[in-house]
Amino acid sequence: MENNIAQHRPQWKSHLGFVLAAVGSAIGLGNIWRFSYLAYKNGGGAFLVPYLIALFVVGIPLMILEIGLGHKMRGSAPASFASISKKWEWLGWWQIIFVMFGIVLYYSVIISWCLNFFFFSFNLSWGSDPNTFFFQKFLMLSDNPFKAGDIRLPIVLSLVVVWFLNWFIVFKGIRRGLEQANKIFMPLLFILTATIVFWGLRLPGAMSGIRVYLTPDFSRLSDVRVWMDAFSQIFFTLSLGFGIMIAYASYLPKKTAIVRDSLVISGVNCLFSIFAGFGVFAILGYMAKTTNQPINEVVKESIGLAFVAFPKAISLLPHFSKLFGVLFFGSLVIAGLSSSISIIEAFTSGVVDKFHYKRRTVVSVLSVLGFLGGLIFATRAGLLWLDIVDHFLTQYGLVIAAIFECILIGWIYKTGVLRSHINNYSSWKVGSWWSFCIRATVPLVLIGLLLSSLQQEFTDPYGGYSRLSLIIIGRDWLLITLFMAVIVASHPWKAEPSQGMIK
Ligand code: TRP
Repeated sequence: MENNIAQHRPQWKSHLGFVLAAVGSAIGLGNIWRFSYLAYKNGGGAFLVPYLIALFVVGIPLMILEIGLGHKMRGSAPASFASISKKWEWLGWWQIIFVMFGIVLYYSVIISWCLNFFFFSFNLSWGSDPNTFFFQKFLMLSDNPFKAGDIRLPIVLSLVVVWFLNWFIVFKGIRRGLEQANKIFMPLLFILTATIVFWGLRLPGAMSGIRVYLTPDFSRLSDVRVWMDAFSQIFFTLSLGFGIMIAYASYLPKKTAIVRDSLVISGVNCLFSIFAGFGVFAILGYMAKTTNQPINEVVKESIGLAFVAFPKAISLLPHFSKLFGVLFFGSLVIAGLSSSISIIEAFTSGVVDKFHYKRRTVVSVLSVLGFLGGLIFATRAGLLWLDIVDHFLTQYGLVIAAIFECILIGWIYKTGVLRSHINNYSSWKVGSWWSFCIRATVPLVLIGLLLSSLQQEFTDPYGGYSRLSLIIIGRDWLLITLFMAVIVASHPWKAEPSQGMIK
């Protein structure tokens, strides 16, 4: 017996459409500025080593798990977990709740900054001092998370645009919305990025930047923080633990090459990051040359890379500098949107699966809530909130959710069942190594990571914030989403998830 959730499920129009949408979710702001910044901070080329290890040890096995699970259960994350055991439904809700009511709220605000900077590029409004411009004129940053001050109008105005676009795309559905948008966004993003990279590589001094990027400083590898950064970056960049890949895979037709797709999605995403890194480092090299500074001094902090160092570099360009700014910030907006729409879809499919509300109503309500929730990050304390919430949700939320995911699939459901489903549909098979990864390697590595992050949290509170602000803004944010998840999970289903979706 197949229940109506599985029967009436929409499907991607084409296989390529699914792959592009999944790649679109994976490639985001994280690939351009977060990756480059982490590489820069963590010893240039040496960062590539833990990054690639994280990709193979944790990223790819979990990608296969999430896509395999969504495909088998044909349901969103809560529906898929509930089909295995009702007791675990909360986990699916928790993932999509802390991403929808956490990560995407500030993520959309960063997209709004990019949109502002896109327009600033037309006349290089940041002038000769982008640092003062960004922090004091644009964000009007306050010095304390509890001093929110007023809401910044330019940010709110573009936040309206961002949420309108999010709403518009997801409202139109899987085929005409998400699939169509990604079919335009992804090729455009690849062209824009390639233009930026080749442009960057031709600038004087570029090669000194590339040398820093490619020359590993292996002494950094003994620092656990480098490894923590690499592993949490892999989660963030591959959208794992978000419930997104499960939802996207639930719209796949029966015949799907699960393993191949998982490898393609992970591979394209990471190659994109590494490729974009060439552009970023080339430009850093150029900046170092023109300002006569060593490369490791041109950038101070993460956000600074995109919104301070880049504007500075853009102003220094001899030709077509405005065009360069427009291309760079335009590509960040596109990369960001194709990611933010994916969580709205993942959340919507969870609600529709369980409560059978009308999809369009859910999307509209979510977009309004998303906009309203984002306002806190558009205040003068926005950047501080963003920094704290991002730290807690990505270093703890995503990691804890993934540990539970492995326990559920590896030990309660038994990986063998999912593995034979995956192998049934794939010409590339996964061997018992995969089960071993899900049952042992991945959870152990993640638990180790979690413990060392926790230990660090106590000895050296994150980012120099007061403990009170870390507790209230960071830890409590995570706990509230968990509480919401438990409540939603305890509500009865409109239709049973457990029989029909397991086929
Ligand atoms: N993978 C994305 C990146 O690297 C992050 C991301 C994907 C995301 N989906 C999301 C962030 C949904 C917020 C909401 O940038």
